[in-house]
Amino acid sequence: MYGKMTLREIKKGIYSVGAQDWDRQLFDELIPLPQGTSYNAYVIKGSEKTAIIDTVDPTKDEEFVTNLVELGLSKVDYIIINHAEQDHSGSLPLLLELFPTTPVLCSEKCRELLKTHLGVPYERCQLVTDGEIISLGDKTLEFLITPWVHWPETMLSYCKEEELLFSCDLFGSHYATSDLFLSDYATGEILARRYYAEIMMPFRTSIRNYLQRLSEKRITIIAPSHGPLIAPASFILDLYQKWTADQTTNTAVLLYVSMHGSVRQMAQYLERCLIENDVGVKVINVATADSGTIASALIDASTVIFATPTVLFGPHPAMVTTTYLANVIRPKTRYAVIIGSYGWGGKTVEIITSMLTHIKAEMLPPILVQGVPDEKTRNALSELAIQIAEKHHNNPDILI
Ligand code: FEO
Repeated sequence: MYGKMTLREIKKGIYSVGAQDWDRQLFDELIPLPQGTSYNAYVIKGSEKTAIIDTVDPTKDEEFVTNLVELGLSKVDYIIINHAEQDHSGSLPLLLELFPTTPVLCSEKCRELLKTHLGVPYERCQLVTDGEIISLGDKTLEFLITPWVHWPETMLSYCKEEELLFSCDLFGSHYATSDLFLSDYATGEILARRYYAEIMMPFRTSIRNYLQRLSEKRITIIAPSHGPLIAPASFILDLYQKWTADQTTNTAVLLYVSMHGSVRQMAQYLERCLIENDVGVKVINVATADSGTIASALIDASTVIFATPTVLFGPHPAMVTTTYLANVIRPKTRYAVIIGSYGWGGKTVEIITSMLTHIKAEMLPPILVQGVPDEKTRNALSELAIQIAEKHHNNPDILI
């Protein structure tokens, strides 16, 4: 019965056959999913041949197969795997049993990962190359090999006749919804932004090149593997253009954690000084914020402030985790600074600085106070806000 809820025709002969996962709250035991997620898979029935594009997470096998049965698929000519990660390939072993002679079309790297992650024999895979086109009769599919959106084997599949791009992880969002197409654009943008920040941002430079390549194709609909389909495609393509561009905004992200209130006082004072100097600021308590909120804020901020107490000899563990996250997702941050309070000593500045190996930011002089902030600390914070404002205003790549 639930299959009827998720089996939908997108265009004549093209079906959505995946599954919604309303209950999932965490991805990779790491990424919070405030609105669940979906694992989208597609079927294209051409006038001569039929293809399945991607599968679903193995927890949704039953729903996926129900959809295929309801479609009445007696013969499948191709199983196309855009990405080997298990949330899209997990039902492939089952599919190979259901269609024992159907080849899996994938990139060379994907073949290797399907073997090591799912035990798919090499002989079941038929390699495709960049730009290769297969015909299903009245519809064709072109494969674009696009490493690192999200793993090294990823590819996109493009149906020229329908101007439809099957983008797998790229352009997705963790968004369980009964809408086949995105209709709530405000929610869609927030969730797409979180998803980009957490999953795609480390690959910003590659994605920018792919956007250039995709701009040469007519794309009306984007069919990702997470979240609703997107039409017009320009909605998400424009957002990705903006997020992957070199420019940053006249904003600072103030990440803080406080144990006895000293760092909170510093953060609040600096927030006020930044606003007085016309710098936008987003303040996030990293002890309670989820990683999606932090990552999302880092997409286009020009400055990041790490505000932490010293616990024993180094930064608060919540700030260590946050610093690690900020570093691995490689934001465009131009300026960074460490502020905080300590009891008797420690190496907070050295430890945080040593963790920022991927952030190409100019480190501004740190401000650390022993115990509670005093007049001298507040003066230093005022000066810091003025310095950040001047740097933002004098940098031509910062949008004022
Ligand atoms: Fe949705 Fe990289 O898997």
